Amino acid sequence: MTDLTALPAWDALKTHAHALREVSLRTLFADDPDRFARLSFTFGPLLADYSKNRITAETLGLLTELAGVRNIESARAAMFAGERINRTENRAVMHVALRNRDEARPMTVDGVDVMPEVRAVRARLKTFAEKVRSGAWTGATGQAIRHVVNIGIGGSHLGPMAVAAALKDAQRADISLDFVSNPDRAQVDDVLGGLDPAVTLFVVASKTFTTVETMANANAAKDWLTAHLGAGAVAKHFAAISTNVDAAVKFGLSPEAVFPMWDWVGGRYSIWSAIGLPLILACGYDTFDQLLAGAEAMDRHFKTAPLEHNLPVILALIGVWNVNFLETAAHAILPYDHRLRLFPFHVQQLDMESNGKGVTLDGAPVATDTGPVIFGGGGSDSQHSFFQLLHQGPRVVPCDFIIAAKGTTGTDASRDLLMANAIAQTEALMKGRSAAELPGVDDALVPHRVFTGNRPTTTLLIEDVSAYTVGMLIALYEHKVFVQGVIWGVNSFDQWGVELGKELAKSLEPAVAGGALAEKALADRDSSTAGLVAAYLKVKQQGPS
Ligand code: F6P
Repeated sequence: MTDLTALPAWDALKTHAHALREVSLRTLFADDPDRFARLSFTFGPLLADYSKNRITAETLGLLTELAGVRNIESARAAMFAGERINRTENRAVMHVALRNRDEARPMTVDGVDVMPEVRAVRARLKTFAEKVRSGAWTGATGQAIRHVVNIGIGGSHLGPMAVAAALKDAQRADISLDFVSNPDRAQVDDVLGGLDPAVTLFVVASKTFTTVETMANANAAKDWLTAHLGAGAVAKHFAAISTNVDAAVKFGLSPEAVFPMWDWVGGRYSIWSAIGLPLILACGYDTFDQLLAGAEAMDRHFKTAPLEHNLPVILALIGVWNVNFLETAAHAILPYDHRLRLFPFHVQQLDMESNGKGVTLDGAPVATDTGPVIFGGGGSDSQHSFFQLLHQGPRVVPCDFIIAAKGTTGTDASRDLLMANAIAQTEALMKGRSAAELPGVDDALVPHRVFTGNRPTTTLLIEDVSAYTVGMLIALYEHKVFVQGVIWGVNSFDQWGVELGKELAKSLEPAVAGGALAEKALADRDSSTAGLVAAYLKVKQQGPS
């Protein structure tokens, strides 16, 4: 693969970045009253304003040239065609098939149309959820299900949890929904402590059905259930989603409650698959279908729009500009809507697990920085915690502000307050405040009260938080990450970086368990690792606190 930094298009961007170094956003806005109109994009209920980035029309032109040279269009076509673009795992990447709602449109992997299978699983999910919601599916004592607990981690947890929080208003009031991911028993016990086993359904969500945290929690839930209702109750109180259907059935599940997924769906891209079951149980299938519809609309746009008018491409290129040419290292996701408060955690996995890679597809070290550190949180709360650094810290952190014009609840006044704050933050980060704008301020305080401004932000304004707009937003970020991965030349769809820790944890298990095997497990380990295990064992020997 050609070295990215050796491309003339890269060089041109370097030169351009140098020329733009002294130009401030304030000046760019002052010089062009139409800047917002030029550098914003409306797509259905979504408005993306990227005018407060340190870019000009020339920047976007040069970035689009880079996208052309990096063959974004053919990479995109290869993904939609079901080619095995996840080369290190030899898999296709076809989450887009999961939101193809066009009955007449085939989508193939290895020449086989996967849509009949996708549609069959959708139909099964719908039937199962309707049975549970109507009370036709009962627990072992004959009572209808009233609590759903999703047990999963990573992509089998963060996406459904974020979307469930977003769609809270669409959830049935008489069916509660909880999410368990942490193997610390405190989380399972906290959730189970408030539930009646006779009316509880566990959804074990695990693509592999081998993830240790998920299996530990699934077994804890099974023990709790059988202690109350007996071993025969498992089939009525568990559902599962996995590529490993046999393992789920072996766990004691009824085949009717086991839903397959496919190896061409990555965990962090799986919300559109049966991994969406907890949402379907809580909100109904029609709401889930709207989530798919929003994503499908974004897919159509991404697949067909020319690069220069393609929203995921534009946002991806601005991200590359920030990371590689403005040399920013982090990126904040800031939803100003309580329902979207968990969205940053989903985007964090999506982006960092996809593009946090040190080698290109052919195994050579990457020549540039790749994915930034993604962090974030609800905008209002974050304003009163880490925004100080965003405004005045020496490191520039580009931000995405996600704002919803209509709230699902509350008054106009409460929404006005949110909107005023969100939009004002983007203004403050852009404009800053100079010493000249601080008349009458004590000289000694002036440096403390100056804001450099010139800090890039993108604002995504959606009309409201609905299944449709949430689907659209998630798909937007997915495609943005994909395009960036192609520019950087990495495989956005594997995650080998999480393996070493898992292996070492396995080999440390005998050591932390103590006893005869501990010494062997610690032989040849560094003094810190051995010392930490010894300290743990010492406390453990004291017995429970
Ligand atoms: O360890 C990382 C990871 O493989 C993620 O990519 C995935 O979303 C998560 O673990 C959970 O995996 P599974 O769905 O197989 O339990």
